[in-house]
Amino acid sequence: MVTIASKTGTPNVSMLGIGAYRPQRLVSNDEVCEVLDSSDEWIFERSGIRNRRWISGDESARSMAVAAADRAIRNSGIDKSKIGLILLATSSWRTVIPHGAPAVAYDLGINGIPAFDLHSGCGGFGYGLAVASDLIRAGAAEYVLLIGVETMSVVLDPHDRSTAFIFGDGAGAVIIGPSEENGISPTVWGSDGENSDAITQNFDVPAYMDRAQELQGKDPDDEEVGRMVVTMEGPRVFRWAAITLPKALSNVLTESGVSIDDIEVFVPHQANARINELMKKNLGLADHVPVANDIENTGNTSAASIPLAIEEMLVTGKAKSGQIALLLGFGAGLSYAGQVVRLPPAPTETSF
Ligand SMILES: CC(C)(COP(=O)(O)OP(=O)(O)OC[C@H]1O[C@@H](n2cnc3c(N)ncnc32)[C@H](O)[C@@H]1OP(=O)(O)O)[C@@H](O)C(=O)NCCC(=O)NCCS
Repeated sequence: MVTIASKTGTPNVSMLGIGAYRPQRLVSNDEVCEVLDSSDEWIFERSGIRNRRWISGDESARSMAVAAADRAIRNSGIDKSKIGLILLATSSWRTVIPHGAPAVAYDLGINGIPAFDLHSGCGGFGYGLAVASDLIRAGAAEYVLLIGVETMSVVLDPHDRSTAFIFGDGAGAVIIGPSEENGISPTVWGSDGENSDAITQNFDVPAYMDRAQELQGKDPDDEEVGRMVVTMEGPRVFRWAAITLPKALSNVLTESGVSIDDIEVFVPHQANARINELMKKNLGLADHVPVANDIENTGNTSAASIPLAIEEMLVTGKAKSGQIALLLGFGAGLSYAGQVVRLPPAPTETSF
C-alpha cells in the first residue's frame, strides 16, 4: 500500500502586516457631476461619499498592487523570501489571460512562487482571507501575501447614475502567517447566483471581442463601440444586503466564538455608508464601537476596500493594533465573506 504524504500547518494565524496604495488623483463629487446628472448633496446623502481616488499618469492595477504589497512586507518585518504564495483579489485587472498575480510576484522580486487571482467581486478580500488562512493551517504555505486591488475607474460608465459616483481605485495588502494566538476566525461565506445579474458587465467577453472585431479601428470611447463597464441595480443590491448580511454577521460571531460585546471595531466593505450604519444598528454594536468609513474619501474600491479601510483606521488612530474587529465583504456574485480578526500592527509606511 503506497502512502501519499500529507501536511498540516499551524492552527493559529494572523495578519502580521498591512500596506496600502491610494492613487494620487482625488476626484470630488463636483468633478464627477461635471459629466454625471447628479449632485454633491445627493451623492453624499445616499452613499456617504465625498471623494474617491482614480488612477492617473503611470498608475495601474499592477503598480498599485506592487506598492501596497511592498509596504505590507516591510511593515510586517517578514523577509520576503519567506512568502510562499501570492493571492490577488481583483475584478478589474486589465486581462483575464494572463492573470495578474505572477506579474506582481515578479515585480516584487519573488518570481517563481505560486501566485493566482481570485475573482469574487467586492467580497474578494474576505474570500482571500479565508483561502490564505486555511492554506496556512493546511501547511500549504507558511506566509501568504494577500492583495486586494482595483481600477474601477477603468470599467465605469461616467454617465451611469448608479455606478459612476460609487467606485474608486486603490490597493491594500496583508501578510498572513503563524502567530501565538489565533487572529483570524473561521470564515462565514456564501453566494446567491439567483441575483447574479444585479451587479454585472454590459458585455460578456466573447460578445465584446466580436463587437471589437466588427468595429475594428474605431475609437473604443466612441458611443457606437461602447466600452465594457460594470452595471448595478443599486436598490436591488441594497435590499439583498439588508436581508442577507445581518444573518451572515451573526453567524460570523457564532463561528468565531466571540460575543458582540467583544467586538472593538467594525470593518464592513465600503459600499455605502448607509448600509454600514444600518448593519451596525441591527447587530446591536455599542455606539462607541468605530465603524470604518474610508468610503467618504476613497469611494468603493471593491476587493481593496477592507484592507484600505483597516489601514486608514490604524493610521488615524480610530483603531489600534491587536483590537478585535468584525469584517464583512460583499458584492458581485452576489456573494459575501466575513471573519473576526485581530487587527495587524499599525503600519509605519503608510499610503497617506
Ligand atoms: C446606488 C445607491 C446609492 C442608490 O441609492 P438609492 O437610494 O437606492 O437610489 P434609487 O435608485 O432608489 O433612486 C432614488 C431616487 O434618486 C434618483 N437617482 C438615482 N441615482 C441618482 C443619482 N446618481 N443622482 C441623483 N439622483 C439619482 C432616482 O431617479 C430616484 O428618483 P425618484 O425618487 O424621483 O424616482 C444604493 O442603491 C446603493 O448603495 N445600493 C447598494 C450598492 C452596493 O452595496 N453594492 C454592492 C457592492 S459593489
